[in-house]
This record gives sequence, structure tokens and C-alpha cells, in this order.
Amino acid sequence: MEQFGVIGLAVMGKNLALNIHSRGYSVAGFSIDKPEVDALAKYQDDKLKPTYTWEEFVNSLEKPRKILIMIKAGKPVDMTLDKLKDLLEPGDIVIDGGNSNFHDTQRRFEELGKYGIHFIGMGVSGGEEGALHGPALMPGGDKEAFEKVRPILEAIAAKTEDGRPCVSYIGPESSGHYVKMVHNGIEYAIMQEVSEVYDLLRTVSGKSNEEMSEIFGKWYQGDLHAYLIEITSKVLQQKDDLTSDYVIDHILNVASYKGTGNWMLEDGVALGAPISVIAEAVIGRFMSKQTTREGSAPKFDGQAPADLVENLEKALNLAQAVAYAQGFQQLTMAAEAYKWELRYQSIAQNWEAGCIIRSNMLQDIEKAYDENGKLQVLFQAPYFKSLMEKNLPALRAVVKLAADAGIPTPTLSASLNYLESIFNPNLPANMIQGQRDYFGAHTYYRNDREGVFHTEWYEEK
Ligand code: 6PG
Repeated sequence: MEQFGVIGLAVMGKNLALNIHSRGYSVAGFSIDKPEVDALAKYQDDKLKPTYTWEEFVNSLEKPRKILIMIKAGKPVDMTLDKLKDLLEPGDIVIDGGNSNFHDTQRRFEELGKYGIHFIGMGVSGGEEGALHGPALMPGGDKEAFEKVRPILEAIAAKTEDGRPCVSYIGPESSGHYVKMVHNGIEYAIMQEVSEVYDLLRTVSGKSNEEMSEIFGKWYQGDLHAYLIEITSKVLQQKDDLTSDYVIDHILNVASYKGTGNWMLEDGVALGAPISVIAEAVIGRFMSKQTTREGSAPKFDGQAPADLVENLEKALNLAQAVAYAQGFQQLTMAAEAYKWELRYQSIAQNWEAGCIIRSNMLQDIEKAYDENGKLQVLFQAPYFKSLMEKNLPALRAVVKLAADAGIPTPTLSASLNYLESIFNPNLPANMIQGQRDYFGAHTYYRNDREGVFHTEWYEEK
């Protein structure tokens, strides 16, 4: 009898199955796509069992069965669950490790619950390599069911610098997939921020790809110790197979997306979360698809400021903090709205290794929430408050320079605006309220007395 089952043996499922197997657990693998099972069969031994039918797969697992589904999000997951619910028994545990929409996970959690089947929606991050050697895992669902799979998940997960597994119980219901969605929103934001910095480096300071690769490589050794910075350095130095040029110079500048960042925005809007940087990152991808982009590219004729590279490093570091801050802010709002108790320091820890947004800054975020789990905004924490004070002038200088040069910096500008707004007691929303009351008698609150007010606005005849 095998201890764990994996359904879906494309690269992610296969690599996770091999990862589990490599930790000494016995695994059964199944896919409706026979060649995928054949590919797994190449690794077959007494602890790795390829199976070719639903029944063979389900019957090969010890009870309660523990099954991970790694297939394309959407309809295929519903079809798989539909099949499984007739074959499984109460107490069995099914984990969906795909990038499922949390609304779907919520519905599936409730539906399978009716059959006594425990459903865990689990975010998995880290791509193919992560799946094989150690992903970051974000499981949400029944705590009791999580405890049963905890040893396996801890064994396969990435480990933080001090050896803790990048997996912990996120919370009930669909909270695991919610947290993965927020991870992806942050991922979109940091990627767009990096792209804007790359644009400024090449356009304003005229750096070559090799020089930029070195700059990002150096930053990676310092405060910006983050996976996305590391791979940016590598992307910049890669030569093309087809030409002798750099690959980056031949990649069409139109960004694709599968939509997890967009989902974060949808729910952020529903919750009223001020996630401007993530919104700009999602819109940045839409903008890249605009067929109107046929004008001439901005050119910078002036002299690049001597402190440009230093300022860009500081600006990017602060903007990265804003991306995380907005992600955590949405999580705190979602936790309240959906009545989930989320432990933000564990979420930060989960992201410290294995996942796409891993960085050293997550250790500081973990500390910040460890000291105060009730932070509304990350920049209330002393470390981030002082980072903001230290790096804000650089961010302002970079945004100003970009504006003067006509170079768009949607996420860097949004980061600056967020920081200029979030603690500002004098935002001009009184004018919005005045206008609302003027044209629609929508009423307003006052800053000098309690109650709801409406003014009979004087209109000149
Ligand atoms: C991860 C990634 C992964 C994938 C994104 C890409 O954590 O491993 O987030 O899930 O790379 O889904 O998303 P887009 O195709 O929308 O860029």
C-alpha cells in the first residue's frame, strides 16, 4: 500500500511525486494521459508505483488516502473531484496543488465536505525546480486533515536559512489558495518594478546588458537578496541560440499572464484594499498588449545623475517592500472579511525559500509580524518605518527623473504615492465628499462634530 498518491504527472506533478519519493515515502502516480504515467514508470521501484486506472490508483493507497492533484486549474479539477468522490471514503484527504481560484476552492471544500472527504487547497510555488527539490507550500482547509499530511509536506518543502520548512497551516477553507493568489500578485508587482528599473538603467544611463547584469548581480549580494533579482541578472547575460545577440533584446515586449494577479485585484477591489502597485503591475501587462504602441520610444539626451544606480537600488528595495506591504494588507483585510485567523509571520516564513518571491526581506517581515501580529500596514513596524525614511528620497528622485525623461514607471510611482498617502492625515478626500454631497446629496461626516451632514449648496441662478 502506498502512503501518498499524485494525480497529474506533467512536469509539476511528476517532480512533486519524485520529491516525495526521494524523502522515503511510497508514492502512487496516476494520470488520464498515459504517456505521463509511462514517463513516471521510468523511475519505478518498490516505493514508486505508476498506475493506469482510477481504481488501480485509489486501491493502491493506504487509508485514510492522501492524494495530491496537480492538474490545470479550472474544469479539469472539477472533473477529477467528481470522479474521486465516488471512489473515495469519508476521512480521505484530497489536496489541490494547482493555481486554483479561491472561490472554486471554497465551493469544492464545501461540496467534498458533504461526503466526509477533507479538501485542502494548497498553493505551490517554485516552478519545476522547486517542485523537485523544495517548493514553498501554502495549505488551507481542515486543520485536522492538515496534521495528517504535515510530515510529508514538511519533508518535501523548501527550508529557510535556519532550517525551518516553508510550509505551515495557513487557515481554514480556501485560505491556502487565497494566500497563493496574493503571492502571485506580489510576484507581478516585483517583476514590473524590476522591469521599470531595467528600463531606466538602459534608457537613462545607457548601460549594456552585461553592465546591467553585473549591477543586478551586485544588488543580489546586498540588500536586494531576492530570487527575482538573481534571475534578472541571469536573463540579462544570456546569449541567443538563433543569433549571437542577447536573448533579452529579441524577446517581444508583450507580457502574458494566466490571471492569478488579476484575481487578487478583483478581490482587493471587493475588499477596498489599497493595492495600487499590484493593480499597476496587472495593468502594466494589459498595457504591453496595446496595439497603439507604435510611437517612438523615449530617449534620454541628458547626463545620467551620478547617483542613479545607487538611487535605483534603494528605490527598488523600498518598492519591493511596498509590494509585500500591499499583499499583507490585503491578507489582513481578507482575514477579517472571511473570518480566517491568518498568522502573517508564518506566511512570511513560508515565502522565505522555495517560492518565486523569496528574498531576505521576508525575514524582516516575519520579525515585524512576530513582534506585532496586528499591524495594519507593514510600514508601521520600526524596521520598515526606518527603511521608508532612509530610501524615500531615492524613490522620489527616481520617479522625478523618469517623469522628466518621459519614461513610464507605473509601479515605482504607485509605490511612492502609496507611501506618501498611507500616513497622510491631510488627503483631499474632503473635496470628493463635498462634490458627492453637491450633486447627489450623498451626505458627509465632519471633522469637528459627530453625525451625518448635508449642505444646501448655494447655486447661482
Ligand atoms: C509560482 C508561480 C507560478 C507561475 C505563475 C505565473 O509561484 O511558482 O507564481 O504559479 O509562474 O502562475 O503566472 P502568470 O502566467 O500569470 O505570469
